[in-house]
Amino acid sequence: QTEIYGKGYLKGDLPNVTTDPRLLEEQARKTLGVHAFNYVAGGAGEKATMDSNRLAFRQWKLIPRMMQPMNNQDLSVNLFGQHYDTPVIMAPVGVQSLFHVDKETGLAEVCAEVGIPYTLSTASSSSIEDVATASGNGKRWYQLYWPEDDAITISLLKRAKENGFSVLVVTLDTWSLAWRPADLDNAYVPFIRGIGNDIGFTDPVFRSMYESDSDSKIEDNITAASRAWIQQVFSGQPHTWEQLDLLRKNWDGPIVLKGIQHVDDAKLALKAGCDGIIVSNHGGRQLDGAIGSLEVLPEIVDAVGDRMTVLFDSGIRTGVDVIKALCLGAKAVLVGRPVIYGLAINGKLGAKAVMKGLLADLWLSMGLSGTPTVAECDRSKIRRVQYPG
Ligand code: FNR
Repeated sequence: QTEIYGKGYLKGDLPNVTTDPRLLEEQARKTLGVHAFNYVAGGAGEKATMDSNRLAFRQWKLIPRMMQPMNNQDLSVNLFGQHYDTPVIMAPVGVQSLFHVDKETGLAEVCAEVGIPYTLSTASSSSIEDVATASGNGKRWYQLYWPEDDAITISLLKRAKENGFSVLVVTLDTWSLAWRPADLDNAYVPFIRGIGNDIGFTDPVFRSMYESDSDSKIEDNITAASRAWIQQVFSGQPHTWEQLDLLRKNWDGPIVLKGIQHVDDAKLALKAGCDGIIVSNHGGRQLDGAIGSLEVLPEIVDAVGDRMTVLFDSGIRTGVDVIKALCLGAKAVLVGRPVIYGLAINGKLGAKAVMKGLLADLWLSMGLSGTPTVAECDRSKIRRVQYPG
């Protein structure tokens, strides 16, 4: 509290980033070019799923407890047998050089400082090795956009493992990019411009395959190489449940499937021996008209939550949102756009301000709701309320 109010949060060493999550997007709009802004703020279709993600949070209300011991909030959680300081994880977000020169390396560095695990995207504009160096002792996870070619998949997993990435997040909902009008109207696919390809371009297996196929160096024609990389990772053809065996054989740590919305898929993930799932609709960027992510969280937790780790994302904006997801059974949450807006506004310091703000809000709200530990966030403290209109 002293840090938050006494010193004046905005006037401290983390300047110029609003603490109002509703204003963050507008602040970021001012610093970003139109294409980059549309890319991060946009969604699929008419953004109905993005809206649903927020509406779903509004329908759940906390029921606070009083006269609980205060100032002893403990945000820590245990995930996959490891201690984490907070139940908040940085979501994988590709192409971070679009938003600021600090890009993935800068964000990984401040995530480590703040105590939030950094999830590195396969669509990154920094290499696996550079991000590992920047993240230092910080916890880091690796997100796989699953390549068509197994040799490339195996190479990426090997590099991630060798560089200290502990959890493998496999994104299932993006085997093809969705219908995203703001990007389509501007013919804007950042990867095609060669911006988000460091992981591919630094991958020795992709490099040698590409360079022997095309008989030229990647650097000679970045656009063509980008297209080849896109074909690898957004091939237009989903992998199958049986193919998960390949990942299991080549990854000895936890495997988490991202993009689960249906109870039956959660059960299949369990049956396939996965360690966790992320209930997510990609922040409303893939199937527009898909259900608000929080809507399906309770039924998925009921079906598999006692046997695998259920994580959540899509629509988290405040500390109270985190508590709601925890009360409904998520073990931790991932947050995407707000941190990227911070990165856009003021580089790694801006991202740090957003993350520290979210954690401070969470800490205060856990006190005020009478849920001073994550374990005390349960269904007795939350109720669904639908107001007319
Ligand atoms: C994403 N997301 C994403 N997911 C993923 O698995 N790999 C990726 O490379 C990306 N890239 C990406 C770029 C941008 C600009 C955004 C906004 C999002 C989805 C992300 O991990 C997460 O699911 C959502 O961002 C969560 O929703 P909120 O927090 O943004 O509402």
